[in-house]
Amino acid sequence: MRKALRAMRGDITTLQVDAIVNAANSSLLGGCGVDGAIHRAAGPELLHECRLLSGCKTGDAKLTKGYRLPARFVIHTVGPVWRGGSNGEPELLASCYRKSMEIAGQCGVRTLAFPSISTGIYGYPIELAAPIAVVSVRSALAAGASVQEVAFCCFSDADLAVYEAALAAAGPA
Ligand code: AR6
Repeated sequence: MRKALRAMRGDITTLQVDAIVNAANSSLLGGCGVDGAIHRAAGPELLHECRLLSGCKTGDAKLTKGYRLPARFVIHTVGPVWRGGSNGEPELLASCYRKSMEIAGQCGVRTLAFPSISTGIYGYPIELAAPIAVVSVRSALAAGASVQEVAFCCFSDADLAVYEAALAAAGPA
């Protein structure tokens, strides 16, 4: 089967995929935005498992179960806070996507959805973040592993338009 990379608009907590990615903070103990939505939908068992993980560094990722979510797994990653762009933000953001794809591959995930990491509360300009997301995921997809389908799940039409432009600019897979 041909590997697929696409953008869609939706609420990531409702997606019937093997794993969803959470844009968490380094405590992994929940927050607002997509993190809050994922914890609410997964239920308190998710927080319980997160407490056992001893946090997560920026640019890294950790795996939990999905509990009450339709997704079997949640991959929690910590994006960089935008501080002007010359503090390693692009490399750290790329690392979030790469590490998440790595973990997904290790647990046999075939279908995966990402939110737009760092572009909410962490303030990363989405026009700069989306091309990094697309390039990082595309090269991880090409490199093999189990993952067959990846969706960038955007929360607004405006965000979706930015991801679609980034996908178009990257050309066919
Ligand atoms: N489904 C898909 N995308 C969503 C959803 C949802 N249900 N809810 C929000 N988004 P943010 P960050 C979008 O702020 O910038 C938390 O407090 C949102 O519109 O959730 O990485 C953490 O604990 C935006 O496009 O994550 C951290 O402290 C994108 O998800 C901090 O926020 C990411 O926005 C992380 O900030």
